[in-house]
Amino acid sequence: MRLQGKRIFVTAAGQGIGRASAIALAREGAHVIATDLHEEFLEDLDVAEAFGLDVLNKDSLMSEVTKARPDVLVNCSGVVHSGTIAQATDAEFDLAMNLNVRAHFHAIQAAIPGMLDRGYGAIVNIASVCSSLRGLPNRFIYGTSKGATIALTKQVAADYITNGIRANCIAPGTVDTPSLQGRLHDTGNYEQAMKDFVARQPMGRLGTADEIAELVVYLSCDESKYMTGQCIAIDGGITM
Ligand SMILES: NC(=O)c1ccc[n+]([C@@H]2O[C@H](COP(=O)([O-])OP(=O)(O)OC[C@H]3O[C@@H](n4cnc5c(N)ncnc54)[C@H](O)[C@@H]3O)[C@@H](O)[C@H]2O)c1
Repeated sequence: MRLQGKRIFVTAAGQGIGRASAIALAREGAHVIATDLHEEFLEDLDVAEAFGLDVLNKDSLMSEVTKARPDVLVNCSGVVHSGTIAQATDAEFDLAMNLNVRAHFHAIQAAIPGMLDRGYGAIVNIASVCSSLRGLPNRFIYGTSKGATIALTKQVAADYITNGIRANCIAPGTVDTPSLQGRLHDTGNYEQAMKDFVARQPMGRLGTADEIAELVVYLSCDESKYMTGQCIAIDGGITM
């Protein structure tokens, strides 16, 4: 029960890493407030509170986070666009920056006042190895936005280090989640695409959402209290 009594707000908790994180955090005794664009994805989630929330709606996001007064904020929202800079569109770029970066900016801005009052807070953002850590083919927009997620995390960490507020992020490798399955199917050759995705990891397999969730728990709880401003890769050896 490493998170007993802690209020933890999780965005994009309907499936994949966000969902696994909400479950793992609740198992550690946290009062988890799980939110997702698709409220129906949250129906069978056994956590303290769960409701629909579009993180692209600034007013709703900020008012729900302000109301929740979380001790810990986990920002999971993200979208993956395929393609090089030659294929990238402004609309895709804007969506990725909004979902992968701006939503975190707004959620953190709303969470900080309560954390300052308590002199305590932990922020966990989900970035990616495809970012400032690694360039990967056909991920121009995604990698650009996730590099910004890492920078945003470090900036927040630097500004609030003396206020008891920590900010860290996680850089997963390829993780088997519903959206990854969708990307595999979208290629038109599922078997080959799966082989290619698996081959990115020297460990020779995909990661699981539960493996990432364990790191979310660690960064949320006091076991990591001497750690801030870090980006931890958990990636089957991609960045070793
Ligand atoms: N799966 C991977 O291989 C992988 C690797 C590295 C990083 N990540 C990152 O992990 C995070 C989660 O990805 P995933 O693959 O686990 O989950 P996913 O993509 O399978 O699910 C994403 C969830 O986000 C929700 N969502 C979408 N738009 C939203 C919005 N506007 N407001 C609120 N919720 C919204 C969806 O309803 C869904 O429940 C993302 O930031 C992603 O970039 C994933």
